[in-house]
Amino acid sequence: MNCAFVGAGAVAAKYAAGLAESSLRLTAVCDRDADRARALAADHAAAVYTDLDALLADERAPLVVNLTSHAAHAPVTERCLAADRHVFSEKPLALDPDTAAGLVDLAADRDLALGCAPINHSCDAQLHARTLLADGRLGRVRLAYATAHVGRVTEWHDRPDSFLAVGPLYDGAVYPLSLLIAWFGPVERVRRADAIDVWPPDQRGPDRPAHVETTLAFAAGPTVSLRASFYVDHRSREFYGLELHGDDGTLYLADTGALAADRDAVTVRGGDRDPTVAPHPQPRRERPHLAGPERLARAVERGSRPRVDARRSAHVVAVCAAIETAATSGGPIAVDDHGVPTPRLDGPPVRPPVTRGPARSALRLPPVGFGCSRYRGGDYVDRIDSVATALDAGYRLFDSAELYGNESRIGDLLAAPGSPDRESLFIVGKPWNTNHGPGHLAAACEGSLDELGIDAFDCYALHWPDAWEHRGPLRDLASLPVAEQERLTFPTDDDGEPRRAGHALSDTWPRLERLHDRGLTRTLGICNVTLPRLVRLVDAADVPPAVVQVERHPYRPRADLVAWCHDRGIRVVAHSPLSAPGLLADDTVAAVADAAGVTPAQAVLAWNVQRGVVPIPSSTDPDHVVANLAAARVRLSDAQLRRLDALADPDFER
Ligand SMILES: NC(=O)c1ccc[n+]([C@@H]2O[C@H](COP(=O)([O-])OP(=O)(O)OC[C@H]3O[C@@H](n4cnc5c(N)ncnc54)[C@H](OP(=O)(O)O)[C@@H]3O)[C@@H](O)[C@H]2O)c1
Repeated sequence: MNCAFVGAGAVAAKYAAGLAESSLRLTAVCDRDADRARALAADHAAAVYTDLDALLADERAPLVVNLTSHAAHAPVTERCLAADRHVFSEKPLALDPDTAAGLVDLAADRDLALGCAPINHSCDAQLHARTLLADGRLGRVRLAYATAHVGRVTEWHDRPDSFLAVGPLYDGAVYPLSLLIAWFGPVERVRRADAIDVWPPDQRGPDRPAHVETTLAFAAGPTVSLRASFYVDHRSREFYGLELHGDDGTLYLADTGALAADRDAVTVRGGDRDPTVAPHPQPRRERPHLAGPERLARAVERGSRPRVDARRSAHVVAVCAAIETAATSGGPIAVDDHGVPTPRLDGPPVRPPVTRGPARSALRLPPVGFGCSRYRGGDYVDRIDSVATALDAGYRLFDSAELYGNESRIGDLLAAPGSPDRESLFIVGKPWNTNHGPGHLAAACEGSLDELGIDAFDCYALHWPDAWEHRGPLRDLASLPVAEQERLTFPTDDDGEPRRAGHALSDTWPRLERLHDRGLTRTLGICNVTLPRLVRLVDAADVPPAVVQVERHPYRPRADLVAWCHDRGIRVVAHSPLSAPGLLADDTVAAVADAAGVTPAQAVLAWNVQRGVVPIPSSTDPDHVVANLAAARVRLSDAQLRRLDALADPDFER
């Protein structure tokens, strides 16, 4: 879509930086300063104007991007709407609530789209924080601290006058306010506000108070303490930080205005656990400034006329005005909601992109899950701290099993404050080989559910297709001496071979289906199965497996099985994705990882994710736990994926 920029200053250069990669084409630039307009237009062969009316009369571009100084936003937007142009405006939409609301009405009357910066609610760090909130990680959020320390604009901006005229509310506070309103809905009232005229003597200062502190009550959300300042240095301990405090935990977002999610962007603390840095997406994806106008243009091309962001911006302006009123005449001051809806944070969370590969009917699974096995090369290790870290880091799929013996401790963790709501988790359970028999299978399932403290599994999967002799119930296995654990779980004959039981898979599966019928699991699954056996099972089953879990990594890609499953909408989960001997030290893996700027473990996990398979790595190292989840966002090129495919070794054995 063709567009015109009105305003050719510093922010216009940031928007223009995205044009080369954009579907937007800059056809005209208008600025009262002809040199500035010419300089910007020259790179894009755009027409130059110093008069907006002339531009609107001569140019046909359907979209105007309003990048003028703060006070000019509203009059410029109004003239453009009156000339039947869709408008995307820099923030704030206006400097008083009536004007802002009038612009939204004007756009509606003329059937035009109107958008407004900031676009921070759609950037990676903020999306990630919102997902954690939607998972119920913090319980009910009742308090928040928000900061907008813009700093001395006279020191860091070459044209500070426009900032000094509007003060820190209409410039800096707009970032946390827009985000909080996008998350929690409208502000109901300003409880109190204090505006402080503080500035170094003998220096040109702001026309409005340089420092504002206020307390805001959201209609359906937290009470927010907000500080916005031109006086406090932007390099002070807090810049644009936001801390949310809930009944069950705390979330810290380092920069509400960030266009990308850098390391340490989001930290969560659940229950009485230590804070965990939520993994930052890789590769780093910075939203260009132009993303706002581009999104608006795409919507217009589809025939819609979005004004939701503008309505929220009008409400932000109303909040700023109410804060100013409360600071001069006292609070509380009620605020018009401008029709801003209250989103359901407890509704479906914003999910990471669905992995590619499986048929569309397939179960939606998180791209990376977490393995809870205690077994480590001949030893048993305690996994509870690492499961807690995984919960805090944002994993949602947990692979548990009767054999792992730690279900009751995982259950304690899930029940503790600060853990995600049950609905936001996908919990896999697995009966052990000694429990396939009549009665034993149901008892194993009920026992595991009881220990985990949940009503049903999301997937109950046979740990192995073959059955072994039953040696007794396996409740709280990890609490028993190791010799007893092994006696109960690994019945062997005199030659050390497993003692098989006579239950064929064709007998066991219908017993598993009864558990599904009883509502003890949403879906069924099977692990460690060959393709021919899986084909026979699926042919005969009334309730076919929705999930197949096999060892999978570049040495053992199970390509035929994965393709067969994906064709039928069966999800494949890759167990033991990292622990194949030599894999993480493999030269090819290292080279691919190096080229992609990630670790070998992340490259291997991303290879699974990009092939539509869900890896379930396990780790006891908190850094590894976080980095493994971040692999969900790594994007390897086709050539890099093929290099890892080429590592397939038909003779691979552990
Ligand atoms: N269905 C089945 O029959 C079956 C069989 C086996 C496994 N599984 C499931 O699959 C899960 C994972 O398999 P697994 O336990 O065999 O192990 P894995 O995930 O393949 O590998 C774990 C090993 O990799 C290391 N590691 C993890 N992340 C790393 C990283 N980012 N960089 C370097 N090293 C890293 C771990 O050490 P650190 O602790 O130091 O990070 C650990 O030594 C199990 O927990 C279980 O849930 C299922």
